[in-house]
Amino acid sequence: MEYESLLVDTSNQVTTITVNRPAKLNALNHQTIGELRQAFEQAGHDEAVRAIIVTGAGDKAFVAGADITEIRDQSPVQARAFSRRGQQLMLEIQQTEKPVIAAINGFCLGGGMELALACHLRLAAESARLGLPEINLGIMPGFGGTQRLARLAGTTRALEMTLTGDPIPAQRAADLGIVNQVFPVSELAGAARALAGRLAACAPEALRGILQAVLRGSETDLQTGLELETARFALCCATEDMKEGTAAFLEKRKPSFGGS
Ligand code: COA
Repeated sequence: MEYESLLVDTSNQVTTITVNRPAKLNALNHQTIGELRQAFEQAGHDEAVRAIIVTGAGDKAFVAGADITEIRDQSPVQARAFSRRGQQLMLEIQQTEKPVIAAINGFCLGGGMELALACHLRLAAESARLGLPEINLGIMPGFGGTQRLARLAGTTRALEMTLTGDPIPAQRAADLGIVNQVFPVSELAGAARALAGRLAACAPEALRGILQAVLRGSETDLQTGLELETARFALCCATEDMKEGTAAFLEKRKPSFGGS
């Protein structure tokens, strides 16, 4: 599929989605949000794809936010629809049944931060800066940032970052548990590909089970979460991949997971 604002490349079972508006620091306009929904839908349903990377084009930004020129011209009713549409995209990304890695290669602000927060794993370049600076525009985050940042880093940090709007360096984000790992910028893309490749070689049903048990389980009470874990564990044990994984271990060889 051809996109106006995205580059999408699939190789070795990994789809890389690159937001490609470098002259606007990859800001998310309506078009880009719609294309991201399409690209994630396609990669999510393609059985040949087992992991997804999202990143930004150019050497300056991951995504520097929702497109401020579009926000400015919205009526309140349009703004409400814009927020719901952005939230829907982020929810679809979070609910993707294969691992989604954000490779944060530069400014990761506003809607860009919200995009990164919806991903399952976040790798960042040392030079990246992450924040929710909407307060400086007289608005607030509207694509899930208030909810996901508070859940991820706690209300103390979430309130500090949203009320001041001050971005933080990648290493600080890692210290706060917002980012998984930090790399020199020249190593980031390779590190993301290596991690995605490693995940792509895993048993897909086990990956799906883990994603659901951790993400849905953490939103519910322990008993319900444990029941979900048991159900998904049992489902893993009904797969050919479980037979392959256990046989490979006992035969002292590397497993080859076919996805069935
Ligand atoms: N929406 C629309 N356009 C944006 C944008 C956004 N969120 N972020 C950057 N751009 C545009 C700039 O307007 C500029 O366009 P121009 O060349 O046509 O004037 C271009 O991208 C380059 O940005 P610029 O501000 O010149 O780069 P910089 O290096 O001086 O500053 C930032 C980089 C990230 C600090 C600055 O662009 C910024 O603060 N962006 C907005 C961040 C934000 O508030 N995001 C939340 C939005 S809800």
